[in-house]
Amino acid sequence: MPDYSLLEKLLFPPVHLDREKLAACVRGKTIAITGASSGIGERLAYLMGEYEVRLILIARREDKLRSMQKGIEGDPAMRAKVVVAAADLRNESEMNAVLSQLQQLPDGLDILVSNAGLSIRRPIEASLERYHDFTRTMAINYFAPVRLMLALIPVLRERKGQIINISTINTALIPLPYWAAYQASKQAFDTWLRSAAPELHAMGIATTSIYLPLVRTPMIEPTASYRDMPAMSADHVSQLIAKSIYSRRSRWSPWWLVFGQLASLTGRGVWERVMPGVLRKRRDKHGSS
Ligand SMILES: NC(=O)c1ccc[n+]([C@@H]2O[C@H](COP(=O)([O-])OP(=O)(O)OC[C@H]3O[C@@H](n4cnc5c(N)ncnc54)[C@H](OP(=O)(O)O)[C@@H]3O)[C@@H](O)[C@H]2O)c1
Repeated sequence: MPDYSLLEKLLFPPVHLDREKLAACVRGKTIAITGASSGIGERLAYLMGEYEVRLILIARREDKLRSMQKGIEGDPAMRAKVVVAAADLRNESEMNAVLSQLQQLPDGLDILVSNAGLSIRRPIEASLERYHDFTRTMAINYFAPVRLMLALIPVLRERKGQIINISTINTALIPLPYWAAYQASKQAFDTWLRSAAPELHAMGIATTSIYLPLVRTPMIEPTASYRDMPAMSADHVSQLIAKSIYSRRSRWSPWWLVFGQLASLTGRGVWERVMPGVLRKRRDKHGSS
């Protein structure tokens, strides 16, 4: 159990991971994880490294992926074989190289964990000269997973495989100020996958959307206000992703999200009236951010 505060224990109850069931379910399978070099993807790679699987680790930092490969394959308690596929998934030729590697795997691909992501928190006033913030978040949070899916659906169909998308609870809540680039791009892929899911299920491919609250990873480090907020640990998240592999459930979200959704639905008018005043006061006190 992670080192949680009392509030975190209530908000994030433990996952019961049936390790025998997981081992039986994944034995001999091939699992690709994007964004494997850090945070959630890294912890998931180490967790799945304990099982008899082939792991394909995808991210830009090749040195980090290679040292993970060494750590997993060099540890006698670990059983996975690891393949490193270093690539910037926003770069067309690097993406194409990863796709052909994944399409030519001798044993096919069983599970694709779409986890790589970029978050940006920036007020609109500070974004006026930064159109590239919107293109780069869309590039990695939307276009990259769409490209991966389109190329890999035939491979996944052959193995009755599974797509696991690492999404955020914000897709179900009132969008927050300062997060327009990130939230719009995460929402875009969540909608894409939910729209495609019935067609994928008809092909025998399972889909799982994991709606995460705040998770303590390098992604949230630049946001000072998140330091004292309740957050899940990346190890805890990796366990619930692992559990979704044998349960093949279509979605996971924290138990309390439904209350947030209700508040988002009923409180939109109040929110829209109150927020501009709150932001004006904050701007007067701290400047534009
Ligand atoms: N942390 C949270 O509070 C939170 C909450 C809800 C949802 N999520 C979602 O969880 C997922 C994982 O985030 P995290 O918190 O674990 O963040 P993280 O520690 O920053 O990890 C992000 C991963 O994405 C990879 N990545 C980023 N840009 C890439 C690119 N252009 N090409 C290839 N790989 C790229 C990074 O590797 P390289 O830098 O080596 O490329 C890294 O491995 C994201 O999709 C995020 O939206 C996070």
